[in-house]
Amino acid sequence: MTVATKPTEIDPRALRRALGNFATGVTIITAKGTDGTRVGVTASSFNSLSLDPPLILWSSKKDARSCAIFETASHFAVNILAADQLEMSNHFARQQEDKFAGVDWQEGIGGAPIFPNCAGRFQCETYDKLEGGDHWIFVGKVVDFDDFGRSPLCFHQGSYAMVYSHPDTFPGVEKEKPQNDDWGRTGNHAFFLMLRAVRAYQERYQPKIETLDLSLIEARILLMLNDLSGMAADELVQLLHTPMAEARAALGTLENRGFVVSQDGGYSLTDEGQHKASRCWAVAEAHAQETFAPFSDAEVEGFTTMLRKLIDPDT
Ligand SMILES: Cc1cc2nc3c(=O)[nH]c(=O)nc-3n(C[C@H](O)[C@H](O)[C@H](O)COP(=O)(O)O)c2cc1C
Repeated sequence: MTVATKPTEIDPRALRRALGNFATGVTIITAKGTDGTRVGVTASSFNSLSLDPPLILWSSKKDARSCAIFETASHFAVNILAADQLEMSNHFARQQEDKFAGVDWQEGIGGAPIFPNCAGRFQCETYDKLEGGDHWIFVGKVVDFDDFGRSPLCFHQGSYAMVYSHPDTFPGVEKEKPQNDDWGRTGNHAFFLMLRAVRAYQERYQPKIETLDLSLIEARILLMLNDLSGMAADELVQLLHTPMAEARAALGTLENRGFVVSQDGGYSLTDEGQHKASRCWAVAEAHAQETFAPFSDAEVEGFTTMLRKLIDPDT
C-alpha cells in the first residue's frame, strides 16, 4: 500500500464549509475583567470536557476585542441559548461598545453576566488557557450550573436551526402497526382505531411543536385561546381533555412566560401569545397537510364530515 505523503493544500473557506456540517448549540460566553469591563461573545465552540473534575471548554479568536478580558478574568459564564434567543445570538456576535445595554442580565460568580430564559448556564473558574492556532482554548471548572431544559438554539452550515426528534425514535408509532397485517379484533373496531390514529398522529406532531419550546398541552391552550378568547380556566380545562393539575400547571407556565393573561376569571392571549399561537397554527396546519397528503380532497372531506357527525349526529 502506498501512502500519500504530499500534504493537501487546505482551502480555508472550503474547510470552514466542511466544518459547518457539524451541528452545534449556540452559547454566549461572558466575563468581567479586572478593570470592571464586561464582555460577552456568541460562541458555538463550547463543549463538555470532563466530569471529574467538572470541566468545559470553548475557544476564542485571538484577535477578538473581548479576548484579552477572557485571558485575565478569574471566572467566565456559559449561557446556552434557547431556540427563541436568536436575536441575543446575533446581538452578541456584533462588535459594539456596550453589548449589555438594554439586555436583561444578572451578575453571576466573579461578576460574569448570566441571562434568564436560557436552556442552561455554567458558571466557571478559569482553569486553563491553551494554545490553539489563531484561537485560545479556554478551559473552565464548573462551580455552579442551571439546567432549565428549554429547547436549544442550534447552528448548522452557517444557519440557525432547531432540534427536531428523529422520526425513527418514536417507539409508539411502530407499536401502532399491526403484526403480519393482522389488525385483530380491536384493530377492526372504529373506537380503537380512532384512539390509535389520534395517538400516532400526535406522536409525529409532538416533536414539531416542541421546536417552538412548548409542550403539547401548552400549544393546545394557545390554539384554543386564539379561537375562544376569555375562556374561564374550568371551561378550558374541560376542552383540553387533560388532567386538571396538568392543565393548570401549563396555564401557569404560559402566564409566567407572558403568553397568557387572566382577567375577570377569563384567560386571553397577550400580543406575544398571539404571535406564538400563529406559529403553532402554522405547525399544526403543515402537519395536517403532510398527514393527509396521500388522500384525495373528497376523501379528506368525507373523513371530516364523518368525524363531525360522530361528535354531533345532527350536524
Ligand atoms: C453562531 C456563531 C458562533 C460563533 N462562535 C464563535 C466561537 O466559538 N469563537 C469565537 O471566537 N467567535 C465566535 N463567533 C464570532 C463572535 O461572536 C464575534 O466575532 C464577536 O463579534 C466577538 O465579539 P467581540 O468582538 O466583542 O470580541 C461566533 C458567531 C456566531 C454567529
